Amino acid sequence: MLAPYGHEAHPAGARAMDSLSYPPPLIERKQEGEMLSEHENKLLCEVGPGTPMGELLRRFWMPVLLSEELPEPDCDPVAVRILGEDLVGFRDSEGRLGVTSAYCGHRHAHLFWGRNEESGLRCTYHGWKYDTEGRCVDMPNEPADSAFKEKISIKAYPAREGGGCIWAYMGPPELMPPELPKYEWTLVPDSHILMTKRLQLSNWAHAGVRLQAAGWSTQTAG
Ligand code: FES
Repeated sequence: MLAPYGHEAHPAGARAMDSLSYPPPLIERKQEGEMLSEHENKLLCEVGPGTPMGELLRRFWMPVLLSEELPEPDCDPVAVRILGEDLVGFRDSEGRLGVTSAYCGHRHAHLFWGRNEESGLRCTYHGWKYDTEGRCVDMPNEPADSAFKEKISIKAYPAREGGGCIWAYMGPPELMPPELPKYEWTLVPDSHILMTKRLQLSNWAHAGVRLQAAGWSTQTAG
C-alpha cells in the first residue's frame, strides 16, 4: 500500500499520520455504558457563539430578564449571562429596552456598574456612553469636536417585552422572527401572570426537557 505523500520523508509527519485514523470518525466511539460520547455531549450542550446548538437556539427569541427587574426608565442595569454571553439589560430615559454586551468597548469595564442616565448607559471608568442599540453616543475623554465615538459600538441585541419578560433575539437579523412567541401566558393581561425566576444548575437540554414537560414549546423562525 502506498504511503501518503511525504509520509516516509518526514518522521514527524509519519507519527502524525499514524495517530490519525482515516477517514476520521465523525462521532467518537462511546465508552461502554456511556449514554453520550464526549463529542456528542459537547455537540448537544455547548451553546456559545459559533457552536451548532448555540446557533440553533439563536434563531429564537430568548427570555432574558423579568420585566420587573427593569421597573422604570433609568433604573439600575442588570447583568445576565445568556447562551454563554455576558450581557446587561437596561431601560433608558425614554423607556426603550437595551440588551447589550456587558463590556465597555474601551477597556472592557463591566457595564453593570454603569450609570443609566440621559438616554444611555455610561461606563463608570472613563465615561463612554452607549445607547440601547450599542452605539457610543458620548466620549468625554475625547475633544468635543472628535467624531471618534461614531466608530465605536458594542454588541446589542433587539429586545422586546411581553408576558412579564424581556426577550432578546441573538441570531442573524435576517432570520429574526417578526413576533414574540405566542404562548398562552404571553397573550393574557399582566394581571393574569405570575412570573418568577430561579437558578437551575443544568445544561439547556435538561432544562428544555423540563420546560417542554411543563408545556413550554418552541417557535421556529419560519
Ligand atoms: S473602560 Fe469604559 S470608558 Fe473606559
